[in-house]
Amino acid sequence: MDFDIADVNLADEGRLRVEWAERSMPVLKQIRGRFKREKPLKGVRLAACLHVTTETAALLRTLKAGGAECVVCASNPLSTQDEVAATLVRHDEIPVFAIKGEDNETYYNHLFSVLDKKPTITMDDGADLVSTLHTDRKELLSKIRGGTEETTTGVIRLRSMAENGVLRYPIIAVNDAQTKYLFDNRYGTGQSTLDGIVRATNKLIAGSVFVVCGYGWCGRGVAMRARGAGARVIMTEVDPLRALEAVMDGFEVLPIGEAAPIGDIFVTVTGDIQVIRASHIKKMKDGAIVCNSGHFNVEIDLAGLQRMTVKRRTIRPFLEEYTLKNSRCIYILGEGRLINLTAAEGHPSSVMDMSFANQALAAEYIHRHGKGLEARVYTVPEEIDKTIASLKLKALGVKIDTLTKEQQRYLASWETGT
Ligand code: ADE
Repeated sequence: MDFDIADVNLADEGRLRVEWAERSMPVLKQIRGRFKREKPLKGVRLAACLHVTTETAALLRTLKAGGAECVVCASNPLSTQDEVAATLVRHDEIPVFAIKGEDNETYYNHLFSVLDKKPTITMDDGADLVSTLHTDRKELLSKIRGGTEETTTGVIRLRSMAENGVLRYPIIAVNDAQTKYLFDNRYGTGQSTLDGIVRATNKLIAGSVFVVCGYGWCGRGVAMRARGAGARVIMTEVDPLRALEAVMDGFEVLPIGEAAPIGDIFVTVTGDIQVIRASHIKKMKDGAIVCNSGHFNVEIDLAGLQRMTVKRRTIRPFLEEYTLKNSRCIYILGEGRLINLTAAEGHPSSVMDMSFANQALAAEYIHRHGKGLEARVYTVPEEIDKTIASLKLKALGVKIDTLTKEQQRYLASWETGT
């Protein structure tokens, strides 16, 4: 079996970690049970470009149980858990092309290695696999039935491809399922971002001025958790509606230029480029900590920062000190790459349970119905979303009410008023 990982001898450590994660993934476990019996993915060659984590291992083991032939590469050069890559290779016989800290060239070589398996389904996180297919491996496109996309950034890229008439096969936007973004983006990013910052710095969050750029679902989660940890949270936004929501949720809202001199810790979660620019960094306090939890390392102007820098040191893993010409020190975490996966372990398994249940069921759906779909971006069918929510509630031991016949009739009627 062809693969490229850091050290296969880490496999046993990886196995235990995957086992631990799977305990918190009851929905995926149920799906795996059915997949084992029914083999709905028989004949599928599935190329995944995902963060290689314990939760991703749980997903891949489920897809394999469903009959798919899987291969995986990293969706970020710094997010791979090397022990997980090792257990996937040794114990699950799933080829992995991912090494934590790989350079850009290796990252793309790994994407090519995965595509060399001639997939029929792609499973992407950020759309690098799909964009590489559409630019450098066009000859493989005709064999692809469809794909799935995990994250907001990827969905935005794919919609742009579809609008420009470039997208050549149907893709299900897993990110847009309610059982995905309401939990993964909000509670997952909220907790794991704080976790990454604390692991990288060991700083006290309580009492700090914590600036969050972007009040989408991820930004909401980060802001909520930072507030819960005792920070004074300031939001920055470009969208008036979101800014208004942030205000009504009780946050201070400021332009980044005004937040820059006040903040102790800055987190970008916008999905856009150049959110914190050199002109903002120049105004920051000595000791300010700056990091990103958006998908790509484009939100902080690191090139601009480098130009203002006279000295650069690595203080501890994922914590770099930049001494500026104005003598202030600014600390960048995880090279501006998503801090929750570089310095911590990404979202906890319990939320990834729902995200990856969506992935597994979306892959099954694409295999079954992909031929009849157009080359555009689809949302996850509502019944999949509802099924996952019901299964998760059941696993949590939470019971809910059902509508009576009379209530159903009332909701479907218009005649009854005051
Ligand atoms: N994205 C965010 N957290 C993740 C995790 N734990 N596994 C895979 N992808 C993720």
